Amino acid sequence: MTLQDTSVFDANSPQARAIERLFTYDLAISAVIFLTVASLVIYAIVRFRHRPGEPAQPPQDEGNPKLETLWTAIPAVILLSLLVATAYTMRVVNPPPTRPVPNVEIIAHQWWWEYRYPQSGVVTANELHMPAGQKWLLGVESADVIHDFWVPNLSAKVDANPNSQNFLWLQPTNPGVYWGTCAEYCGTQHALMNIRVFVEPPEQFEQWRQAQLQVPPPPSTPETQRGLQLIESRTCASCHTIAGTKAKGKVGPDLTHVGGRQTLGAGATTNTLEEMTRWVQDPQQIKPGCNMPSLKLTPEQSRDIATYLETLK
Ligand code: CUA
Repeated sequence: MTLQDTSVFDANSPQARAIERLFTYDLAISAVIFLTVASLVIYAIVRFRHRPGEPAQPPQDEGNPKLETLWTAIPAVILLSLLVATAYTMRVVNPPPTRPVPNVEIIAHQWWWEYRYPQSGVVTANELHMPAGQKWLLGVESADVIHDFWVPNLSAKVDANPNSQNFLWLQPTNPGVYWGTCAEYCGTQHALMNIRVFVEPPEQFEQWRQAQLQVPPPPSTPETQRGLQLIESRTCASCHTIAGTKAKGKVGPDLTHVGGRQTLGAGATTNTLEEMTRWVQDPQQIKPGCNMPSLKLTPEQSRDIATYLETLK
């Protein structure tokens, strides 16, 4: 599946559709008010401008109860209609106050996303997988500073705060890959904190879920064996987890199935052997300021590690 090329107005869930309708309604009312006021101002400028021979001050007029009632009542009705429309949208978009265990726990980090599926134990990063048509509750929080989870075609924005969980409904209608990003400035690499949501038919999602739970087979070629050995002996293992190996770090993204992802570094680049090698060699070149240091490996060592990581589908 490839990334959808869609506009913000291409809503793909009941929640996003409700937001889109509210936005369009607000925009239409604002446009009518703007055009009315602007036309009256232009009319007044032309029609009542000062002409030679007229007194400096036009006749002064005040206290017209009918007019005053009218221009108080009209804005009151407009605001009331906006209140009703907003309350309706909130009812569709906001989750209920009773909080069951969310289907996915989203944990924002500087500068990537961690996804944990509490029911099945799947852990992945940056690329979220979901079954089409199901209404899921997402719990959103942060491991460091405030971030903001936003997939425009699917959902409202929701702040990711440290030490407290916010909740979000997500009910994608059609299968596809949807783009999202961090929508709250969170430091140097705020701009490279992309999200991809893979909305799949339920059977396909189930296959993905089962595959994620598999422990990857041990490396079988000399190259990939050297790669895993380097990961376990260098600092890689203290930041990343690869199931079935000595790598059990919790600081960076879980790499158990990293080879199956489309992108690296939260959308910093595409996931190919060449880009993975470049990333392992010097992440700072691709994503300056990110928390993964350059390990001063030889190009051959980087290649061995990348070759091994690419086998982790
Ligand atoms: Cu995370 Cu901006």
